[in-house]
Amino acid sequence: MKLVRTAAEMRRLCRTARVGGARLGLVPTMGALHEGHLSLVRAARKSSDMVAASIFVNPTQFGPSEDFSKYPRNLENDSALLEQEGVDLVFAPSAEEMYSEGAVTWVVVEGLSDRLCGSSRPGHFRGVTTVVSKLFHIIEPDAAYFGQKDAAQVAIIRRMVRDLNMPVAIGVCPIVREPDGLAMSSRNAYLSPDERKSALVLNRSLTELRKVFDTGERGSAKLIATAKHEFASESAVRLDYLEIVDPDTLESEPHVAKRVLVAVAAVVGKTRLIDNILLEP
Ligand code: PAJ
Repeated sequence: MKLVRTAAEMRRLCRTARVGGARLGLVPTMGALHEGHLSLVRAARKSSDMVAASIFVNPTQFGPSEDFSKYPRNLENDSALLEQEGVDLVFAPSAEEMYSEGAVTWVVVEGLSDRLCGSSRPGHFRGVTTVVSKLFHIIEPDAAYFGQKDAAQVAIIRRMVRDLNMPVAIGVCPIVREPDGLAMSSRNAYLSPDERKSALVLNRSLTELRKVFDTGERGSAKLIATAKHEFASESAVRLDYLEIVDPDTLESEPHVAKRVLVAVAAVVGKTRLIDNILLEP
């Protein structure tokens, strides 16, 4: 496995591999890797000859009062995990390497970028789509792999790839959870033992919603009320949103007449967590 720090070297190595006929898979990450990230690496490995992973805590997707400076960083441990998984190239640039001074060019997926997390984190998805575009330009992967955990991110990246004719196949992998149901996240490391217990309410609310759905309820308002009820007893948790939306457009669905995404975001102590399920009538 090779650790690469500059865009020029990364481009050269990836181009050489692709000219030699290798199918290249990319797994973009911000590091602090867990089994969720590694599941993407395994999916990439299965359908690629060569796998690249990026580790870059992207400053442009964090708001001014968010956790950019304290976001967990552990390149040594992450590199060891990626090496075990058979990754060929790890791209870990500095912020200066990724963003030239005075950069003013952004990739924005209009509309979608303002929904769900985009509504409470203004500018977040603009940062995501810009950095993912830059990674696609530097690495030129045949396929890139993302987690269903960040369902809005998936919808937005798919739309960007379609709208801008990017020659990259997007692979989406299921949410990997802890044994008790909490969706794995690098941010779970911030939780105190009590907060860790309270955080289960995200998954619990979705599970309760699914139970009511399975009895035949199709009205979104009723389903959402059931799920929101779970939050009433959790005083340390502030619900940000709990919505039933179209998984591609992220627009609200008043009834579940086709496949929908149920997405939740909540702040536990000071830690913002997200989770979601897909419902199929
Ligand atoms: P990060 O949060 O590090 O996540 C990297 C990838 O891992 C994303 O595609 C995310 O959906 C996936 N992932 C995280 N937790 C997961 C879980 N429990 N199960 C399955 N997949 C999971 O998402 C980002 O970084 C950034 O926005 C990025 C795309 C790298 C752009 O900066």
